[in-house]
Amino acid sequence: MVDIQSLLRTNIKNLKPYSSARDEFKGAAEIFIDANENPFDHPYSRYPDPLQWKLKEKIAQFKKVDPQNIFLGNGSDEPIDLVIRAFCNPGVDDIIAPNPSYGMYQVSADINDVKLIQVPLRTDFTMDFDLMLSTAGPQTKVAFLCSPNNPSGNVLPLSEMKNFIASFQGLVVIDEAYIDFQQESMKSFINDYNNLIVMQTFSKAWGSASIRMGMAFVNTEIIGIFNKIKAPYNISNPAQEQAMKMLDQMEAVQKQTQQIISERKRMALELTRFKGVLEIYPSEANFLLVKVDDANKLYHFLTSQGIIVRNRHGQLHCDNCLRITVGTPTENDILFIKLNEYYHEKDFVFG
Ligand SMILES: Cc1ncc(COP(=O)(O)O)c(C=O)c1O
Repeated sequence: MVDIQSLLRTNIKNLKPYSSARDEFKGAAEIFIDANENPFDHPYSRYPDPLQWKLKEKIAQFKKVDPQNIFLGNGSDEPIDLVIRAFCNPGVDDIIAPNPSYGMYQVSADINDVKLIQVPLRTDFTMDFDLMLSTAGPQTKVAFLCSPNNPSGNVLPLSEMKNFIASFQGLVVIDEAYIDFQQESMKSFINDYNNLIVMQTFSKAWGSASIRMGMAFVNTEIIGIFNKIKAPYNISNPAQEQAMKMLDQMEAVQKQTQQIISERKRMALELTRFKGVLEIYPSEANFLLVKVDDANKLYHFLTSQGIIVRNRHGQLHCDNCLRITVGTPTENDILFIKLNEYYHEKDFVFG
């Protein structure tokens, strides 16, 4: 057990949170003249539920967790920031995260004036968990792990993550933004480890990046801390409604997810045909990290053809690497045609 209260910043421990109108009265009434809203009939004239209970109950059923163990944020970028803000004293504490990984850990750390200690992944993007542990110092409050990892796409072994969580004396965030493209989530272990926070999102498999809906699965003690410091109405009503709609379309979403996975496999296969494609890293997400002969040149060519991929050249172990999101079958076919033009492989035929 980790002593959560001793990790918490003193000013957050002592904080008296804002109490909104919708916090103070929750029941049914005829007339609401408590929140300075426009009283006339508009679809979104009223403030949303600050704790989004209806949506949490629906998510809870699907994710098989207790609604009390769900925090909803403005994208998972919000809980990433909240965990640093709540637990790390600016200019004093630090966090650790693998390198390369998702860029917002660094940005959120910088915004909060908290040092990010980057722990290099091995060249095949596997993690040296002993190195992660030995890098953590007395001021290391939070460790971020990302599985499947962005930009490499590989997953971290469950047993090693569990050993790490049990040994680490701070909070461990497992960022599972791409979890829907594979099977094994760590969220079922939130009651076993009180320092575990699992983050997921509606932005990837759920086709809802624009509603900005991130989820953190965690014990009620940490939920209480997040609720204390979040903006009072951090999730809009249209976003809550759209998330509920997507959950009603669960089967269609899961079918699409399977289609994306099979397109990813097709993409990996097709890409091996190009001489200039040197390596395709194994991925369990909705993208592939691909090493080519000259990433900058190919990136500019594809851009000139109206195809935008992510150039990861310059990141650790990512020399000449492009990160390519799996598109629709038609979009992927166009990519292959353009790559064929670029590499002049006249004998190229679709598999
Ligand atoms: C690993 C990882 N975590 C989190 C996010 C952000 O998710 P959200 O859109 O929920 O803020 C991304 C987005 O690319 C990501 O790659």
